[in-house]
Amino acid sequence: MISSQEIGAAGACFHKPLAECLDVAVNEVFPNIKKTQLKILDAGAGTGPIGIELLKLGYTDIHALDISQEMLNIAKEKGVPYRRFICCPLTEKKIDELETGEFDALISAGTLIKANVRPEALVEMIRIVKTGGLVCFSLRYNEVDDYQPKMTELEEAGIWEKLSGKKIPYYNREDMPSYGFGFVMAIRTYEASYKKYFPDTYEKIGKDSTHDEVRQLYDEWAVKYDEQIGAAGAAFHKPLSDYMNSFVKESFPNTPKDQLKILDAGAGTGPIGIELDKLGYTCVHALDISEEMLNVARQKGVPYKRFICTALTEKRVCEVETGEFDIVIAAGALIMANVRPEALVEIVRMVKKGGLVCFSLRYNEVDHYEPKMTELEKEGIWEKLGSKKIPYFNQEDMPSYAYGFTYKVLKK
Ligand SMILES: C[S@@+](CC[C@H](N)C(=O)[O-])C[C@H]1O[C@@H](n2cnc3c(N)ncnc32)[C@H](O)[C@@H]1O
Repeated sequence: MISSQEIGAAGACFHKPLAECLDVAVNEVFPNIKKTQLKILDAGAGTGPIGIELLKLGYTDIHALDISQEMLNIAKEKGVPYRRFICCPLTEKKIDELETGEFDALISAGTLIKANVRPEALVEMIRIVKTGGLVCFSLRYNEVDDYQPKMTELEEAGIWEKLSGKKIPYYNREDMPSYGFGFVMAIRTYEASYKKYFPDTYEKIGKDSTHDEVRQLYDEWAVKYDEQIGAAGAAFHKPLSDYMNSFVKESFPNTPKDQLKILDAGAGTGPIGIELDKLGYTCVHALDISEEMLNVARQKGVPYKRFICTALTEKRVCEVETGEFDIVIAAGALIMANVRPEALVEIVRMVKKGGLVCFSLRYNEVDHYEPKMTELEKEGIWEKLGSKKIPYFNQEDMPSYAYGFTYKVLKK
């Protein structure tokens, strides 16, 4: 463990400048809120130097998180007036003690170091900050390149935007690096937009909803669904269909497209059925939990061969034989409130050996599905052929990217 004396002896001088970076951004973003009312997390608080600097700047509702209880104990003994001392690691995993959007701002000084906290943890840091809030952190001058890809990815996905990024003094001893970088990012908000475009459905279901609740929501939404996702600028159906199509030639060199048996899982009102038809796939079946969503697809004349109304879960869907399909595609259906990660095993069961599974995931839900995706890969059940960013919504105030994944099924 590095003590405060040790970092003091090394001449660490980045705490005050980093706290000031945050303070400048706070004045810009929260001009009418008293500093004492802003709830701030000092992530990787250690012995409390950032707590002290924030206090000097007028902040009082400061909470400390650190992997080391001993470091926090020193902060306590020094009397750094953190409201709470939370001892847990900062990783990509969800920190159960901290609510989503609990803090107005998060500051992390000297903690995002490759050996300590990896770039994936940025996603968890973002989760606990409210939309519209701030994430401020320092990076070593020679490690910016390690964090930049994730920072850019999050920026391109519209999750945060950079408010400032500049050199800050780091150590003031001759034999130590003299500067590092301080960044302040503002978390973008989509809540208001989701509410605006989907007023009747927003937040009505979540990851713990029962299948009956999900079915009921989509049954009620069905008549308005196309109009509402159209107004929100849904833009992922063609790109995901094209993405699937790009793997077909190599995977099925001898089968004409119209003979490939495809399941559109979570087909809804049929936009994927329409796109696949345009691409020449004419043997497409639809599966959905909601009869009303499927009815809209029927009324529109989407040329599905069969409409299967059932929930896709970890349980066996008796209407579908093992290995019945060449391809399963799922657009916008693998979301935690709908088709959950456990269902991937059932999806794989439906696909023949050598067949494909192609699906989209929301930018902020990849982490929920990745453990299952990796598990299946490690067990040799499927192999990842590719993943790529695909357009999601094209309205300015909606998330612009999702991710498309394609896997090849290897064995049962
Ligand atoms: C966001 S919509 C996407 C619909 C369509 N694929 C699209 O791209 O527009 C999700 C669809 O998944 C269906 N769904 C939700 N949970 C499901 C489950 N467990 N099994 C099967 N379908 C489900 C819903 O009824 C809805 O039609």
